[in-house]
Amino acid sequence: PTHALNAILEKAAEVPVLGTSSLLVAIPAYFVLFVSLAVLVNALQQLLARPDPRYPPVVFSWFPYIGSAVSFGANPIKFMQDAQKKYGDIYTYKLLGRRVTVCLGPDGNNFVFNGKANTTSAAEAYKGMTTPVFGKEVVYDAPHSVFMEQKKFIKLGLSVDNFRKHVPLLVEEADAYFNEHFARPSGKIDIHKAMSELIINTASRCLMGDEIRATLATAGSEIARLYADLDHGFQPINFLFPDLPLPSYRRRDIANARMTEIYSKIIRKRRASGDTVSLSLYIQIWLVYPLIQKTLNLWYVTPSVLFFQSRADLVQALIEQSYKDGTPLPDHHIAHMMIAVLFGGQHTSATSSTWAILEMARNPTLVKALREEQIKELGSLSEPFDYDGLRNLPLLEAVVRETLRLHPPIFQMMRKIMADVPFDKTGHVVPKGDYVAAAPGVTQLDPTYFNDPMAFNPWRWINHEDGIHRLEVGADANEDFGFGVVGVSGRSPYLPFGAGRHRCIGEAFGHVQLKTLLGTFVRKFDFELDPKRGFPNSDYTSMVVMPEKPATILYTWRKN
Ligand code: HEM
Repeated sequence: PTHALNAILEKAAEVPVLGTSSLLVAIPAYFVLFVSLAVLVNALQQLLARPDPRYPPVVFSWFPYIGSAVSFGANPIKFMQDAQKKYGDIYTYKLLGRRVTVCLGPDGNNFVFNGKANTTSAAEAYKGMTTPVFGKEVVYDAPHSVFMEQKKFIKLGLSVDNFRKHVPLLVEEADAYFNEHFARPSGKIDIHKAMSELIINTASRCLMGDEIRATLATAGSEIARLYADLDHGFQPINFLFPDLPLPSYRRRDIANARMTEIYSKIIRKRRASGDTVSLSLYIQIWLVYPLIQKTLNLWYVTPSVLFFQSRADLVQALIEQSYKDGTPLPDHHIAHMMIAVLFGGQHTSATSSTWAILEMARNPTLVKALREEQIKELGSLSEPFDYDGLRNLPLLEAVVRETLRLHPPIFQMMRKIMADVPFDKTGHVVPKGDYVAAAPGVTQLDPTYFNDPMAFNPWRWINHEDGIHRLEVGADANEDFGFGVVGVSGRSPYLPFGAGRHRCIGEAFGHVQLKTLLGTFVRKFDFELDPKRGFPNSDYTSMVVMPEKPATILYTWRKN
């Protein structure tokens, strides 16, 4: 045996030792070999294994773990449409170690939106990303029934009475923004940047409260910085990896704590003062108001803003609510709900208004018709907008609807499957652990429901020619999950605001806001696409579908 051992040792000594330079060549070579083998094994496994007919078909992908991430990421709508042609309305694809089952068409929508809360969970899908940004004990960090109550409170604050007060504020904000930022008689502007800034101003003014709006207006605003830090923590990477030791994650957490502190201070102040202003103080404010406005240029501090009766913002509505057991909403719940609302409404409305302006910019006939509608219904283009007047503008309403059909900001909505659930239409079972995705962004482009679906045609909503208008509305539209009647069936092929228990409660406010801003825009400007940029492609790398940067248009102030 000693002999044999010596022989082995001698042979081993003859093997050349790799130098550093050889190592540099060898490591990448081994890596390529390893990846090729992994790809080969992964491909063979998929090709040779017989698919299990109980489960939805699985999209073929070359790379283990990565799955279809690259093709999905490049253009998710095309990826889902291509897979639908091959596999039908329900199929599974792999994404960075997860299984995502896409559920398309009215039945797919119904499966995802009307699933039970304990088997088809939005909280389990979203809370890793949302809780650090919104804060604890609200939305997906609250028990489901508590979240439904919280939705009810927010909805109560978004009442028609409040919308009536919001419309003049929206017009005022739009006027002020356009005067300041569309400074020349004609010019070029990044319309997405502009609409994002205008929407944060309007949302703060109408929902967040004047205290927040006032601080936003100051140079180097802390609120604006905190909002940016939270926003950087609300990206697809945060959905995939909720906690990484990166500076952006740390800044997100600090920003949440600071925002909560700022809101809590405002709420404490309002609670302590009873938020009342005495009549004599109100009269005094009226008297000194022109002075305040002139000297400080605080145009957003109107006398009525300082008078409690006029508070139509959400903070105030939430302060006045109590949970079912009688406990008033704690300050940090209100603060966290306000952050959630900011995130619910900011990018969604900013991108929708941008896409609408871009679509109008290449459709002068539409812009002309919108102006004619205003003249016919309101009397002139200088008649001030009000809530009821806006309701009489069906073409403007149709522009908003059509924008949300062709460019829905949230093109898919996710849930996590917590126990095997059957998909009745095909008889498949969606297994526990899968994510499911409803994709209105795909179904809203389906020619079965919309004629010539890629055309931006607002008149389709007025003429009712599409297949969608022949579908029956499901009785589920009348269900109430604790925040009022849902109002739309989960089987509808048009669901830019979702359906079921997680349906958007900001839809009505979103419509009022978008109609006021777009109606004001067509009054004030002639505009066209920037010939150097044309109509921008969609950018799918954020949480909402944005136009690729920069989304520039050319504008000219109109002389009305
Ligand atoms: C839910 C879209 C504006 C607050 C949703 C959902 C969608 C949506 C698709 C369903 C998400 C899901 O099922 O996973 C939009 C669009 C908007 C908009 C397109 C504007 C054009 C707003 C505004 C607010 C808001 C202005 C707040 C005032 C909410 C809330 C939910 C929600 C609280 C409930 C989430 C849940 O129950 O899980 N929104 N939204 N949204 N949205 Fe909106």
